[in-house]
Amino acid sequence: MMNLDGQRVLLIGAGGLLGRTFATALIDAGARVLLADRALAAVEELAASLGERTMPAAIDITDADSIRAILALADQTWGGLDTVVNTAYPRNPRYGRRYEEVEYDDFCENLGLHLGGYHLVMQQAALYFRAHGKGGHIVNISSIYGVMQPRFEVYAGTAMTMPVEYAAIKSALIHLSGYVAKYFLKDGVRVNCISPGGIRDRQPESFLAAYDAHAGRIGMLEPQDIASTLLYLLSPASRGINGQNIVVDDGFSL
Ligand SMILES: NC(=O)c1ccc[n+]([C@@H]2O[C@H](COP(=O)([O-])OP(=O)(O)OC[C@H]3O[C@@H](n4cnc5c(N)ncnc54)[C@H](O)[C@@H]3O)[C@@H](O)[C@H]2O)c1
Repeated sequence: MMNLDGQRVLLIGAGGLLGRTFATALIDAGARVLLADRALAAVEELAASLGERTMPAAIDITDADSIRAILALADQTWGGLDTVVNTAYPRNPRYGRRYEEVEYDDFCENLGLHLGGYHLVMQQAALYFRAHGKGGHIVNISSIYGVMQPRFEVYAGTAMTMPVEYAAIKSALIHLSGYVAKYFLKDGVRVNCISPGGIRDRQPESFLAAYDAHAGRIGMLEPQDIASTLLYLLSPASRGINGQNIVVDDGFSL
């Protein structure tokens, strides 16, 4: 178990599948966690279950004022912030259509919400860390589909696909994380990505079997497999890692 005693973490998307597991792992490791999500009720409930080292807050990553308000809240409450983890997953109601059906406006809107939102968080967090003069760490959650082309065959017979917007968003997010790391290199602001493979979440059995055939002995991952990588990245053991993307996928992308 990594020791993150006293680390002050802003966790964005805390109410989601990965976010809830990250929150628990961070609290177990000794961190203080600002649980931020557009869905306030979800993080209020999570904060109530995780206890006094947490604080729930509403945030919209597509709104710079909303991001700045959370950073100011961390200052008021904790006297600063050490780390920002972004695991939000914004999408519009038509997201997830097959390639033939994706309309231009939806493509642009989903890139704006997701990639644009992650850009805004990186920009505001990096400026915050630079202004405070003590450095800081930003961790983004990308995906294996930011580094490999889709295996469309694993979705056969299901209503699922690997959306074209996702490929554009997640590949660009890895590149932009390095861009921001380099831009703020001398300010002590580190920016890294974690790229998970598929996470088990009540998917159809046919999909799970097809997916697992391409991976090692684990196959589809549990959220805890990603949380343990996050703890490593937030620990002093990884202090030399900057501008990198860590793929966690049991070999699916090989
Ligand atoms: N689940 C997977 O299999 C998987 C695999 C690889 C990568 N990822 C990535 O991990 C991240 C988290 O995925 P998840 O499965 O936990 O998603 P999720 O949908 O379960 O949770 C995402 C959270 O983001 C919040 N959110 C949405 N729009 C927001 C906004 N504008 N501002 C603030 N919060 C907002 C939602 O309220 C939700 O609580 C995503 O970036 C996703 O692409 C997921």
